[in-house]
Amino acid sequence: MQNQSLLAELKRETARRRTFAIISHPDAGKTTLTEKLLLFGGAIAMAGAIKAKKAGRHATSDWMAIERERGISVTSSVMNFDFNGCAINLLDTPGHQDFSEDTYRVLTAVDSALMVIDSVKGVEAQTKKLMDVCRLRDTPIITFINKLDRDGRSPFELLDDIEQSLGIEAAPLSWPIGMGKLFKGVYDLRQARLRFFAGQEGQTGRDARPREAVVLQGLDDPALDELLGDTAAGELRRDVELLDGAGYPFDMDRYLSGKQTPVFFGSAINNFGVKELLEAVADLAPAPRPRRADVRDVSPLEEQFSGVVFKIQANMDAAHRDRVAFVRICSGRFSRGMKLRHHRLGKDFKASNAILFMAQERSGVEEAWPGDIIGIPNHGTLNVGDSLTAGEPLRFLGIPHFAPEHFRRVQIRNPFKAKQLEKGLAQLSEEGAIQFFRPVTGGGVLLGAVGALQFEVIAERLASEYDVEVELVGTKYNAARWLFAESKEPLDKLAREEPMAMVTDAAGYRVMMFTSQWMMERTIEKWTAIRFEATRECADTTL
Ligand code: G4P
Repeated sequence: MQNQSLLAELKRETARRRTFAIISHPDAGKTTLTEKLLLFGGAIAMAGAIKAKKAGRHATSDWMAIERERGISVTSSVMNFDFNGCAINLLDTPGHQDFSEDTYRVLTAVDSALMVIDSVKGVEAQTKKLMDVCRLRDTPIITFINKLDRDGRSPFELLDDIEQSLGIEAAPLSWPIGMGKLFKGVYDLRQARLRFFAGQEGQTGRDARPREAVVLQGLDDPALDELLGDTAAGELRRDVELLDGAGYPFDMDRYLSGKQTPVFFGSAINNFGVKELLEAVADLAPAPRPRRADVRDVSPLEEQFSGVVFKIQANMDAAHRDRVAFVRICSGRFSRGMKLRHHRLGKDFKASNAILFMAQERSGVEEAWPGDIIGIPNHGTLNVGDSLTAGEPLRFLGIPHFAPEHFRRVQIRNPFKAKQLEKGLAQLSEEGAIQFFRPVTGGGVLLGAVGALQFEVIAERLASEYDVEVELVGTKYNAARWLFAESKEPLDKLAREEPMAMVTDAAGYRVMMFTSQWMMERTIEKWTAIRFEATRECADTTL
């Protein structure tokens, strides 16, 4: 009987979870949108809190001097709030140009993503990279085209850009009326509602609330002409007619399989279109779905708890000096103090001090459900990619290392500290903070990162936590791939031909570095017996 009620609760709680992250190119408006979403969700009471953090004015959650100095978020965090009956988990991703592997890995822990695009700039470089990561798991994506209060590109052009640059169908669910100074609002294509933009005067401040929407009887409703004026009403009708002929109609299955993105228009800074976006996340975005493990797929509705570590954050709070493993719950109910099996180590432990991140505060978790993220403080026992279960031996897949795009040679200032350096690099790489490689021929160590800022973070942490001063010297390499083959023979042959570019990663897997994309493509074409992989499962720690 008790089991029945637990299962019913598990079903209910799982169905209302929405775990997502926002992806965007820097400056598209991710921080602004995050703040507005939190405002609507009631998670923060005042606009400005998140922006202030970004600008370093109230850096209460900043955990390193470097973050404060630069006024950017080196780490990601988790925010949760309730909206329309849904329990929303919003995972923040560092959006600065110099982002890290963490940014990518956060995307492996979510069920969907929200993509923000600047209406003036269209799809930008970072968006493309993040989209590639989403594609690894066919993550469903909702698109928000931001900054409609500025003179940007035409909405048709923007849809075309998304389709061409990102290779995904764009299906508008709302349509903008004018832009810049002439921006009048958006028309909700699904519900035939017209939402007005308050305009330049008066309500454009950060706390402005948009006016209520007007419900129309479709586009032929004469009220449309009265409300918008003949010209804008005529334009809207023409646009929608064009869309009917040329655009993609929204298809839930195509969205859920990552082939199509529903598109919304708005202006985050003016609070315009944000509520509709949140409603779309609640209505359309998927609840937790089964997750792949080595032995089988695990359904979130399984009674037994399971979860996977996708991120380690060290020394988040100078007062705590701790290391927190972020665990995505994959199945079952988590309750405080429950016994968990750590499969890599083959040990059981009690999760009595698990924490939940609520805005900038930490609070104890009594229970949590699939889709939720819990933090487990530890002293180095939990690494990225580790699986935790109630007992069943399984290893979740889909939390990878990503091929670095930046490399540095490590030069140690004091050779007597070589041991500390080894220890520091081993621990930092297990945390997922950096990858290190050893040349197949010759000595030394190379560091690899997807964002150059990771090097500064590592140099600072090696100095402050391991007392090792290092100099990081640039190299000519800017791409890498893991090498796999059916037999050793082609790998050995390639190593003989390109000895300088061959390295092994921390777990001993072979990696080849390249000096250009072109060189990489040429090599891949030539060596058909070798698989060149852009990712490697974190859980694969032994060959
Ligand atoms: P990010 O996290 O993606 O990097 O972007 P962020 O929200 O910080 O926004 C980047 C800039 O774009 C900010 O301006 C922000 O105010 C502005 N912005 C965000 N949404 C809108 C919008 O809907 N319309 C317009 N016109 N601008 C928008 P800033 O000058 O860099 O910062 P601030 O001085 O406004 O704080």
